Amino acid sequence: MKKIAVFTSGGDSPGMNACVRSVVRTGIYHKLEVYSIMYGYDGMIRGDIRKMQSHSVSNILQRGGTVLKSARSEAFRTKEGRKKAYEQLQSHGIEGLIAIGGDGTFTGAKIFFEEFGIPTVGCPGTIDNDIYGTDYTIGFDTAVNTALEAIDKIRDTAAAHDRIFFVEVMGRDSGYIAIECAIGGGAELVMVPETKTTIDDVVKSLKGLRKSKTSSIVVVAEGDEEGGAAHIMDKVKAHFKEEDKEFKVTTLGHIQRGGNPTAKDRILGSRSGMAAVEGLLQGKSNCMAGIINDKVVYTPFEDCITKDKPLSEEYLRLQEMLSI
Ligand code: F6P
Repeated sequence: MKKIAVFTSGGDSPGMNACVRSVVRTGIYHKLEVYSIMYGYDGMIRGDIRKMQSHSVSNILQRGGTVLKSARSEAFRTKEGRKKAYEQLQSHGIEGLIAIGGDGTFTGAKIFFEEFGIPTVGCPGTIDNDIYGTDYTIGFDTAVNTALEAIDKIRDTAAAHDRIFFVEVMGRDSGYIAIECAIGGGAELVMVPETKTTIDDVVKSLKGLRKSKTSSIVVVAEGDEEGGAAHIMDKVKAHFKEEDKEFKVTTLGHIQRGGNPTAKDRILGSRSGMAAVEGLLQGKSNCMAGIINDKVVYTPFEDCITKDKPLSEEYLRLQEMLSI
């Protein structure tokens, strides 16, 4: 293998740049020609492909977002789109791909590999931490720290006014961001898609907490089955008397995707990037380079996208126990 290409796809996450840098420099270190594909699968279809040098990735390690840009490509979902992408790669002589992204990215990579056979290794880049085959995904740690900073601030004002705040965090169908924020931010309650918490449960807990606390924070994962934080708050509020408590809602939103990556995310991105390139050179493909128990592990894309990554029971218990 002489020429490889790297791209970022799906929602950006802090640490993706560290991963891109690692892929480019590891590739060059191993005497490969490394190309970048801009805008993920859309750029692959358009042929937005550029040769990278070692200095092309200078001064990006510490930056959030992705210098390669990202997109959620509709065109790549079609066979016609994927054929165009293949032709573009062929015309550039690309023999291997490194895909940095989440489950949507890996679903595309798996189909593409099965159709056209270009060896592909993935790096887990998403704030959601919902990918099987790695303890953490690139960007998760930064997102949790960003959300925690906000929750600490909300705590100040919640306490000053004796209010109950519902704080919605990202994570799509996963409660990883929510549970870590709830533990780290000392939330009184957490609502995650993995466990059922009804409106009645929330009302009961908040009423019970009134004896010991004047303010409370409920962290709501955006994918919780009771709905978004605003909807949940309205339902809960209806069970309280008007003068009883003031309720407020904050949706943290895309702030969780931005910012300088933490040390953990820079290192995870760098490790995963190196492992992906070296995996390709060893003949690995159709798999992701993750880190489990501090060791590089290659997991088939099929497992990454179909297997569940359950929330830690211990974390759930810890949150409940410490919120009394
Ligand atoms: O997958 C990352 C993520 O930030 C999710 O947490 C969130 O549900 C989604 O992407 C938002 O996507 P978009 O930026 O396309 O609205």
